[in-house]
Amino acid sequence: MNPFEFSEPIATERLTLRLMTHDDTDAVHAWMSDPEVVRYQLYEPRDREVVAEKVAEMAAQSTLADRDDWIQPGVELAGHGIIGSIYFKLASLDDETGEIGWAFTRAYQGKGYAAEAASAMLDLAFGPLGLHRVYAELDPRNDASVALCLRLGMRHEAHFVEHMMFKGAWADTGMYGILDREWRAR
Ligand SMILES: CC(C)(COP(=O)(O)OP(=O)(O)OC[C@H]1O[C@@H](n2cnc3c(N)ncnc32)[C@H](O)[C@@H]1OP(=O)(O)O)[C@@H](O)C(=O)NCCC(=O)NCCS
Repeated sequence: MNPFEFSEPIATERLTLRLMTHDDTDAVHAWMSDPEVVRYQLYEPRDREVVAEKVAEMAAQSTLADRDDWIQPGVELAGHGIIGSIYFKLASLDDETGEIGWAFTRAYQGKGYAAEAASAMLDLAFGPLGLHRVYAELDPRNDASVALCLRLGMRHEAHFVEHMMFKGAWADTGMYGILDREWRAR
């Protein structure tokens, strides 16, 4: 595993992954305030003030070197600003494992943008970072997120039954994973 500093934007065919700035607050607010988008996220819809704090936190995270280090670059579509973000955490150094997550503004879902941006993050994880495994945890009722995992070639590895209290009710968690050799062979 190699330490990584997110200093340069990452370009894909249609998108750019880059660190966010205060100017992206309205764009991030578009999804963080949307009850549909946050339904299966750990938080309730956020007001603009809270979103501004979150954007400042995300803007300050650029290093992946130690356990639990995380980054959450914004995903920019030219002419549209930030349309979503990809979360990535260095979950274990010993096991060379990362965790990935995602959220996109509703108007930009269903166009393959999330898969394109997540693929760029997996390229980073299994390329420059040199990780062995990446996993995603999700609510199994979150069909779009399940479909994205499968589209990326991730394997359904676990289903935990009512193991967490989520927004006032017991909820299951699904876990999906992919190994470096599987990502390269896809
Ligand atoms: C989970 C989430 C990121 C998935 O986004 P998404 O846009 O559905 O995912 P993708 O980028 O893979 O897009 C796939 C869809 O785009 C369509 N598509 C259109 N053009 C495409 C293209 N050029 N390339 C690929 N897919 C394309 C696909 O057919 C597919 O639609 P379908 O499911 O109707 O077949 C999104 O639903 C979301 O933000 N949800 C709310 C936040 C959330 O729950 N996050 C996860 C918490 S665990």
